[in-house]
Amino acid sequence: MTFINLFRKKNRKLLFTTPSHSQNFFIVNKFRHFYTCDISETDAHNPEIVLMQAQNRASKIYGTNQTFFLTNGSSGGIIAGILSVAKRNDNILIWKDSHRCHKNAVELAGANPIFYELPYIDKWGVNDKTTVKIIEPYFKTHKIKALIVTSPSYYGIVSDIYALKKLCEKYGVYLIVDEAHGALYPFSDNLPQSAVNVADLTVQSLHKTAGGLNPTALLHSNLDYDIHSFVEKITTTSPSYPLLATIEANINYLNSQKGRNKIEELINNIKELRQNCNNVDFGGDDITKILIKKDDYSGYELSELLFDKYNIEDEITNEKSTMLLTGLGTSDKKLKKLKNVLIKI
Ligand SMILES: Cc1ncc(COP(=O)(O)O)c(C=O)c1O
Repeated sequence: MTFINLFRKKNRKLLFTTPSHSQNFFIVNKFRHFYTCDISETDAHNPEIVLMQAQNRASKIYGTNQTFFLTNGSSGGIIAGILSVAKRNDNILIWKDSHRCHKNAVELAGANPIFYELPYIDKWGVNDKTTVKIIEPYFKTHKIKALIVTSPSYYGIVSDIYALKKLCEKYGVYLIVDEAHGALYPFSDNLPQSAVNVADLTVQSLHKTAGGLNPTALLHSNLDYDIHSFVEKITTTSPSYPLLATIEANINYLNSQKGRNKIEELINNIKELRQNCNNVDFGGDDITKILIKKDDYSGYELSELLFDKYNIEDEITNEKSTMLLTGLGTSDKKLKKLKNVLIKI
């Protein structure tokens, strides 16, 4: 049974249950399809089993011990992940400038955050990767329970997850990877290595680069114990079946030949853009995050020029560079427009 099948009307009873819109009262008509798929738990008949089976299929696709569908983003996955490995007063090593959900997760677990800093790459105005050299001194001087690494960073800086996992194994530390911006990685050899088969826990936001709806995401576990009860702690008892259905379909698409071809098409289009634009420098470790800088322009000036003159909005900008995020929905046409502008400026 798949989630999409849950929406077939033919077996519907005369329901006197939640949700009270009854799939036919559309306060916001624009979202009528969403309402028609927003069914009740009663109508879904054993939705827990459908979810369990869908997650098991996903886990096989990713090659993990467990994969969980999240409808509250990677933020929820980080919290569930920390709860599943940390106890009160444990020390958790997190990056000082990491996404705020890392610190929130540690606080919710009653654990102690210990902050590490990452070097600054002056040329690009971004933080560098997390390395064994940076992390090991903390392991030597503190009793650390878990390490959270953000890879890729927002700007597309990727850390060596294998090396960090080896280090964590040496010191008996759990490795959690925030791969929120790397949900395409498991499906292309031309993108950085994904952490999903390496780290103990990995989160990925489907909504950031993989064409998913806000705020769909995944939590992957390679732990040898069941962490279902921790995911349950951060999950509503009234899940959104439309969102869960899109997660299932999203993973199936990414894993299909069509989806994989689409990723390669995106990569090839960006390669072509890079080859043609010699008047800007390209940086970062992930080609899908177009990190650019231009001589004699600050990142902010470049961002302003793109926005004011060419109506192009970037994802994030700093003093030195600006980053244009791409993903499954970034069309060839859109990239061609960007290419023409970058050639011109
Ligand atoms: C590096 C990083 N981690 C985690 C998150 C949280 O992801 P979500 O929005 O899916 O909760 C974000 C969101 O911007 C992020 O940039």
